[in-house]
Amino acid sequence: MTEIIKINASAPEYCKIIEAADVIKKGGLVAFPTETVYGLGADATDASAARKIYAAKGRPSDNPLIIHISTPSDAEKYAYTTELYYKLAQAFMPGPLTVILPKKDIVPFSVTGGLDTVAIRCPSHPIASALIRESGTAVAAPSANLSGSPSPTCAEHVISDLNGRIDMIIDGGECEIGLESTIVKITDGKAILLRPGAVTYEALLCVCDDVEISYAVTSRLAENEAPLSPGMKYRHYAPSAPLVLLDGEYDDVISYMRKAQSGENCSLICYDEDTAFLDERNTISIGERDDLEAQAKALFAALRRADKMNTEIIYAHLPPKNGMGLALYNRLIRAAAHTIKKV
Ligand code: TXA
Ligand code: MG
Repeated sequence: MTEIIKINASAPEYCKIIEAADVIKKGGLVAFPTETVYGLGADATDASAARKIYAAKGRPSDNPLIIHISTPSDAEKYAYTTELYYKLAQAFMPGPLTVILPKKDIVPFSVTGGLDTVAIRCPSHPIASALIRESGTAVAAPSANLSGSPSPTCAEHVISDLNGRIDMIIDGGECEIGLESTIVKITDGKAILLRPGAVTYEALLCVCDDVEISYAVTSRLAENEAPLSPGMKYRHYAPSAPLVLLDGEYDDVISYMRKAQSGENCSLICYDEDTAFLDERNTISIGERDDLEAQAKALFAALRRADKMNTEIIYAHLPPKNGMGLALYNRLIRAAAHTIKKV
């Protein structure tokens, strides 16, 4: 039922792109790679195609989709842009940045979860870019995972979640960044960071006079609080065993992990350097301790692997909050349902 096609990420075969674009044009669903994570795409101007996305993912219908364009000025067709939008576009598009703007009528409310704003992103991945261009429309695409599981960073993840539920999966290899795009909302000429990603807070400050970091990026919302981004209220990326983040000096975290390995049925998400001190059983290394980019790229695959280990608890380091660390921190505290243990 689901056609799986391989496309060369650095030089996409044109006839295969056309085949995939035809599926989008006919109102179908195509999973495709982007530089961040795989997306599940449909025509963003077709309300019924958008509804198929929610059904395939099992996604709550009030959680809006990002629409993908192939050139930053195409935003004009779908949203009311501002000067700040073009400053951000100049600096970071095409690339891992999503900007939220007031929507135009052409974007159905089924895409925006009923909101009068729309999230816009112009990806840099050659397959994503060619697919959007040939589809001749904006492509609405959330991450191509079942709702509640980690975002897919390779085609195998998409296949395991969505095979049989969608029309086509493009296998374009591993995603370069591995965490979803940075989301910025523009209101009254001001930038609010709703979701941190590879376009870091520090990088945004080079372009914007001021950037407010939304409270929900690092903290838990109260029961009755409405987040600026509906997606933030859902517990995403949740492994089946509880995940606990260890906060403390490096040596103390390592001794906690060693002790846990001898007394508990646990798995560990750790750094390359840690493996010298740990038993290799049920450990997953996500990169060198100082290489936040490598850790970002490996995190979601690690969470999927940890899930399959059938242990009773998963431990990981609490990441720092600078640079790409803030994105890692944001994904991990949500996967851990904010469980942080001081050691
Ligand atoms: O890197 C990415 O952004 C990937 C790739 C495929 O482009 N997409 C992605 O989409 O991560 P998704 O649906 O998994 O996450 C989109 C997030 C959700 O948390 C949603 O609530 C928020 O964006 N969002 C979308 N439209 C919004 C809006 N109008 N206002 C506030 N938040 C919005
Ligand atoms: Mg998602």
